[in-house]
Amino acid sequence: MGLRRIFTDQDPALHKVCRPVEKFDWRLRKLLDDMKETLVDAEGVGLAAPQVGILRRVVVVDTGEEILELVNPTLVETAGEQCGAEGCLSVPGKYGLVKRPNYAKVRAQDRDGNWFEAEGEELIARCFCHELDHLDGILYTEVMERFLTDEELKADEA
Ligand code: NI
Repeated sequence: MGLRRIFTDQDPALHKVCRPVEKFDWRLRKLLDDMKETLVDAEGVGLAAPQVGILRRVVVVDTGEEILELVNPTLVETAGEQCGAEGCLSVPGKYGLVKRPNYAKVRAQDRDGNWFEAEGEELIARCFCHELDHLDGILYTEVMERFLTDEELKADEA
């Protein structure tokens, strides 16, 4: 186990398309363990491998009940729409207004290579879309309507 450094949006790793995972070996297990530890430490909702400098299609998402490990994930179904505040551990201190589906279902492999599906609404759906975008080198700042102002953020906290 170990904490990994979280790269910020200035780093080229965050703007590249990640390659699929082919080997379900100890390196993948170590990456997933480290990403989960790093996510919990940073108090985030999701983390994608390129955010720790690894250009592979790996994501972890905290659903509130468990931390999902998504290897080679794809969106298989979306529905509805939500527009709200979104942040990213790689864009510290900022939040943007981003339109996302209100429901999303992903298909992914677990650390042993077994395929499964996971679904979620609202924050989880938003997180699935945000993290999968990372795997294609896309940050929310590229798809957002605009950044939220300090006043709007303060109003959110109140
Ligand atoms: Ni992010």
